[in-house]
Amino acid sequence: MTITTKFETIEFSVESDIGTITVNRPKALNALSEQVHTELNALLKEIQEKNTDFSLVKGLILTGAGDKAFIAGADIKGMTTMSASEAETFARLGQENTLLFESLNVPVIACVNGYALGGGCEMAMSCDFIFATNTAVFGQPEVKLGLIPGFGGSQRLSKLVGRNRAKEITYSGRNVGAQEALQIGLVVSLFETKEEMMEAATKYFSKMMRNSPLAVYEAKKVMNEGNDLTIAAGLDVEARAFGNIFNSEDMKEGTVAFMEKRAPKFTGK
Ligand code: CAA
Repeated sequence: MTITTKFETIEFSVESDIGTITVNRPKALNALSEQVHTELNALLKEIQEKNTDFSLVKGLILTGAGDKAFIAGADIKGMTTMSASEAETFARLGQENTLLFESLNVPVIACVNGYALGGGCEMAMSCDFIFATNTAVFGQPEVKLGLIPGFGGSQRLSKLVGRNRAKEITYSGRNVGAQEALQIGLVVSLFETKEEMMEAATKYFSKMMRNSPLAVYEAKKVMNEGNDLTIAAGLDVEARAFGNIFNSEDMKEGTVAFMEKRAPKFTGK
């Protein structure tokens, strides 16, 4: 199974069941133009459509081309001439892409090298978790431009690092270095080089692929859904999903394999 849509501002490749999406506008530090979001939208929808049986990918990496930036934000040049309604449409398109990352049936790791500012930080936060290099720089600098975050940063940063820290970062528009990002829980692991980071993401997925892809997906769904619910409502979602997974072949295979003291052979069914 392959992806048929053609792209100019992003790249997509698959190796050993791991898909890599690269935002590829290094001269503009991979800034998110309308074209990037439109292409990303088409790609994510095609992956969603073709990967229902996990035959295309079992994990995804989102990264930026070159060594200087992951994504330096929404494209400022493009925004200078936007009307209010065009800006709202632009924000909704970017937000839709963040929701697509969250609803894909496989985990997505953001691999951040260099700048992840504004829209870049926002795209990274919509992934399941973030790996970064020691030189990565995060932030929501929109207020410095007379703007506010538009691709989910006013909502997701609070959920990741707590509302007060998120406000402190957003109102100042200051940079958050890699060490601080690790300390406040924005990033889960730091690496010396981009190569080491990409290798670590591949290794993570290789190990994860020993697990049931269906169970991983159900865990992702329940954890994302619970993020917006009260504890009681979240536990209800969990109990239903826990019951549902007993209808799967993977659950039977996993538990029987344990009892038979052998490695399970999961199919994602
Ligand atoms: N949009 C468009 N172009 C951008 C860009 C952006 N967000 N960020 C960088 N570029 C372009 C620069 O204009 C420059 O292009 P030229 O060579 O044609 O002049 C090129 O990328 C290289 O950038 P710099 O020369 O500025 O590189 P630097 O090393 O001196 O600085 C930087 C790097 C600190 C990241 C600086 O580029 C910068 O501050 N960028 C803007 C960051 C920002 O404010 N992001 C938030 C955008 S608003 C947003 O994202 C809204 C939202 O939530 C939806």
